[in-house]
Amino acid sequence: MSSGSGPTLSAEQAAVFDAIENTREHVFVTGRAGTGKSTLLNHLSWNTSKQVVICAPTGVAALNVGGQTIHSLFRLPIGVIADHTIQQNAELRKLLNTIDTLVIDEVSMVNADLLDAIDRSLRQARGRKNEAFGGVQVVLFGDPYQLAPVPGDGDERAYFTDHYRSMWFFDAHVWEEAPLRIFELAFIHRQNDADFKEMLNAVRHGRVTAEIAGALNAAGARPVPTDGNVITLATRNDTVTRINKVQLDRLPGTIKTAKAEVSGEFGGRAFPADDALELKTGAQVMFLRNDADQRWVNGSVGVVTKIRDTVFVEIDGEEVEVQPAVWEKFQYSYSPLSKELKKDIVGEFQQFPLRLAWAVTIHKSQGKTYDRAVVDLGSRVFSAGQTYVALSRITSLEGLYLSRPLRPSDIIVDLDVRRFMSQATRVPAIQAGAAVG
Ligand SMILES: Nc1ncnc2c1ncn2[C@@H]1O[C@H](COP(=O)(O)OP(=O)(O)OP(=O)(O)O)[C@@H](O)[C@H]1O
Ligand SMILES: [Mg+2]
Repeated sequence: MSSGSGPTLSAEQAAVFDAIENTREHVFVTGRAGTGKSTLLNHLSWNTSKQVVICAPTGVAALNVGGQTIHSLFRLPIGVIADHTIQQNAELRKLLNTIDTLVIDEVSMVNADLLDAIDRSLRQARGRKNEAFGGVQVVLFGDPYQLAPVPGDGDERAYFTDHYRSMWFFDAHVWEEAPLRIFELAFIHRQNDADFKEMLNAVRHGRVTAEIAGALNAAGARPVPTDGNVITLATRNDTVTRINKVQLDRLPGTIKTAKAEVSGEFGGRAFPADDALELKTGAQVMFLRNDADQRWVNGSVGVVTKIRDTVFVEIDGEEVEVQPAVWEKFQYSYSPLSKELKKDIVGEFQQFPLRLAWAVTIHKSQGKTYDRAVVDLGSRVFSAGQTYVALSRITSLEGLYLSRPLRPSDIIVDLDVRRFMSQATRVPAIQAGAAVG
């Protein structure tokens, strides 16, 4: 998790923060890519006076916000939970009884069944069967136009078809009983150029005119600069692995491997960086963490200049020395003595906060910011929001390179998302702030 110091909140971010702090309403904080949702969540986790527990659907997303996965926090089984009995021991019950506010990041990946299981688990633990989420305030962060829930196998899909309007969290049954207040952050911090912001918005909503496509394609149809530092965002994993391997092999010299040190309960697949990181002098790398001294941020791209006990990387003409970083895996627990919620470190993963970065998947690029990138949509785009995630990572049109022109079939908008987002009444954050004072 990055430190508590982030940019100063804008007025609309501050208004949403106040609404979360000063009310007990269930809140969904959404907004286009780059509107500062993650920044606000980070601020909240450091500055709230409530007993807040933070969780996320995947291990990597949980690590990003210093939280725990939903499944491990609620001790839920994998797969559809439906109306199965939820097992809770005394310790879990106590823990769930201390919570004022449950924060879920990347909520667009949480399916309706899981959200209903969270609701049921909280009602059960808190003995408040008739109150949504057992009286806990729920605060959700995410952008459904970017990442979707993972579809699951045939049986799971059939279950959703029979029981839910869609798999999305917003179609969970709990919302038939509880109101969800939606705050939409409007100001985009990642990009400055109004024309580019408009083009991105058109891609987000599937309203790309011939004129907009023409402008994006004209901007992107340029040779990739050979000075390195340009990352490729690709739809497929095998494309990414191939590009990184080809480029690493092409460099002279031998590969040096840094093995991660893993301790405690950090098993499983949710490693935040490579277990065995292969590097060479000259390798293009991406940083996976923010630097306390702000020499780089999560997403910065540079080139390895020297490998000793530490790794030296050149970013924007400056050489920096990179030490291994420690990722802490957290688990919430209840202390009967202090009657308080504790956040314990249960595992550590130590590795250089670097990965090969000639290419990454669009999926893994979610949440990141790049000044320049090659967008490689391959033979076809296969999921809703993919093109929007890719293009919206880039800070300006001058940084866009397209490996092939965009086609109409690259722009896929999920119809359930469109239905929910167009029908939902949402409060512009500023107005909401005024309403709560
Ligand atoms: N109040 C602010 N002042 C200055 N910069 C900000 C502010 N809020 C966010 N930013 C910057 O804008 C960029 C995007 O912010 P952030 O990653 O929080 O957006 P996001 O809504 O989470 O985007 P995404 O949907 O792509 O994950 C970051 O570089 C962040 O530092
Ligand atoms: Mg984000």
